[in-house]
Amino acid sequence: MAAEHIESFRECLDAVAKERRYLALTSAPPPDAVREFIRSAIMRRVPQFVALDGQRVIGWCDIFPHEKESFAHVGRLGMGMLRDFRGQGIGQRLAEKAIAQAKKIGLERIELDAYASNQPAIRLYGKLGFVVEGIKRKARKLDGAYDDVLVMVLLIS
Ligand SMILES: CC(C)(COP(=O)(O)OP(=O)(O)OC[C@H]1O[C@@H](n2cnc3c(N)ncnc32)[C@H](O)[C@@H]1OP(=O)(O)O)[C@@H](O)C(=O)NCCC(=O)NCCS
Repeated sequence: MAAEHIESFRECLDAVAKERRYLALTSAPPPDAVREFIRSAIMRRVPQFVALDGQRVIGWCDIFPHEKESFAHVGRLGMGMLRDFRGQGIGQRLAEKAIAQAKKIGLERIELDAYASNQPAIRLYGKLGFVVEGIKRKARKLDGAYDDVLVMVLLIS
């Protein structure tokens, strides 16, 4: 991720969020907030990768380190692909890059939340070595429908 990708990244995030199925967000935050957040993350060398189709961001994977000192070895993974680009192996490559970078900067535990209904994501994470550590029952309610949240974790040494 470089500064030049931020605007297109926001559009990509917004499109996936607006599907209202996979992410906690239901739309992207305002442009200024995203710009500031990502610029600061670039400065801090947070693992963040984007997939490009020409100049257009079509997917992302990031792993944000926890800010508190006692949890600084923990990172939180988030990712998404635009619908038309799913199922081509790109998401897996993005996640592998981000995890490799997380390892380089010393993270030891990578966490994420996945909705129980999101089988493609759960399978991808399983393939990458994540295990289910717990299930938060009926933790998400959107458009009148509940979903369980799987807490998934990868320990890296
Ligand atoms: C989850 C997501 C990021 C995966 O990215 P992708 O590029 O589509 O995935 P890939 O093509 O790299 O597939 C990698 C693995 O994921 C799993 N997978 C991907 N799509 C799948 C599908 N439709 N059904 C079942 N498993 C699937 C498979 O294990 C696959 O490996 P395989 O092809 O060897 O079987 C993508 O589907 C997405 O953006 N979904 C919406 C947003 C989202 O769910 N974000 C994560 C929130 S926790």
